[in-house]
Amino acid sequence: MNKVLVTGANGYLGAQVCRHLSQQGYAVSGLCYPSIPDDKQWQQPFAELLVGDVRDTATLGSIAKNGYDTIVHLVSLDHHQSNGDPAFVASVNITPTWTLLDTFSKNGLRKFIYFSTIHVYGKNIEGAVTEEHAVNCNNAYALTHYLSENICRYYADNSEVECVVARLSNSYGQPVFANNNCWWLVVNDLCRSAWTDKKIVLQSNGSPLRDFIYGKDVCQAVQILIEKGLNKNVYHISSGSTYTILELAQKVQQVYRKRTGVEIPITSANASTPTVSKPYNMVNDKLKALGFAPAYDLEAGIANVFDYLKNIFSDQLTATGDQ
Ligand SMILES: NC(=O)c1ccc[n+]([C@@H]2O[C@H](COP(=O)([O-])OP(=O)(O)OC[C@H]3O[C@@H](n4cnc5c(N)ncnc54)[C@H](O)[C@@H]3O)[C@@H](O)[C@H]2O)c1
Repeated sequence: MNKVLVTGANGYLGAQVCRHLSQQGYAVSGLCYPSIPDDKQWQQPFAELLVGDVRDTATLGSIAKNGYDTIVHLVSLDHHQSNGDPAFVASVNITPTWTLLDTFSKNGLRKFIYFSTIHVYGKNIEGAVTEEHAVNCNNAYALTHYLSENICRYYADNSEVECVVARLSNSYGQPVFANNNCWWLVVNDLCRSAWTDKKIVLQSNGSPLRDFIYGKDVCQAVQILIEKGLNKNVYHISSGSTYTILELAQKVQQVYRKRTGVEIPITSANASTPTVSKPYNMVNDKLKALGFAPAYDLEAGIANVFDYLKNIFSDQLTATGDQ
């Protein structure tokens, strides 16, 4: 059986990926930080739950002795946090990639899946963007991910470990844990304001384009990369379709209307912002060639986020008579 260690196991994507891989029969070990979430149902299928700081080399050294076939590395500070003190940011976003590969490669590791971001391409992308597109990091978050990608490349060239880089677009969907760091993600944010405020307020004129991918489709992609991802390769995890933020807001509005009969307004807090995105799409043909087929369109994914919000905010909604 494939023994998989997932770092960031209690995070937004990590918690979903762990659940998915366990359901698919993997022996999943989850490395959580700063503690293991107190949820027996989520904990139950794990082969092992561990707590540890990825900055702590002694902890990683002792965990490595358990012997893992595969690591899925999902630890990073987010965009905002990555603008902090470079030494601290590097200690979380970059050095652990190196330490994990150094330590675990000496303990039988066969495959390392590194989660990066499409932000490595920078802002001025247009047309069909493949994994061969020039990298142009223009923020610290992207830079640290790209530096980690290069560490992976080094180990792919100089060790027995197969390294696969996943450049993820914008994921969305209901979290496993209410405190997951996910409500700033644009689809989740618009759904939440639609549900709780009965309006959608855009922070731009609605023209920026984004590729959105539902969490369960990300999980499917991770499994495919574990089973079939090729050494030294970079893969986009994306839906392959782009929407403007206004189109997204209209989708949210439409799904909300379908289930409640209520038309909520869409307004813009910054209607005069200039148009920034040129048309582009995040080509995912490489992943599709391995068998990836996104199962959730935006409408289905948004409906699931609303189902989640309905449960979370049921008291409030009863009070406002919107159920
Ligand atoms: N969510 C997205 O849409 C998206 C898009 C592109 C790339 N990514 C990348 O995917 C990965 C996972 O993202 P996410 O959305 O689940 O983020 P997240 O913030 O929810 O998860 C990060 C995890 O890292 C853990 N962590 C932070 N510092 C740690 C430390 N010192 N030691 C051990 N663990 C530590 C956190 O506890 C958390 O479990 C990240 O690398 C992120 O940059 C995410």
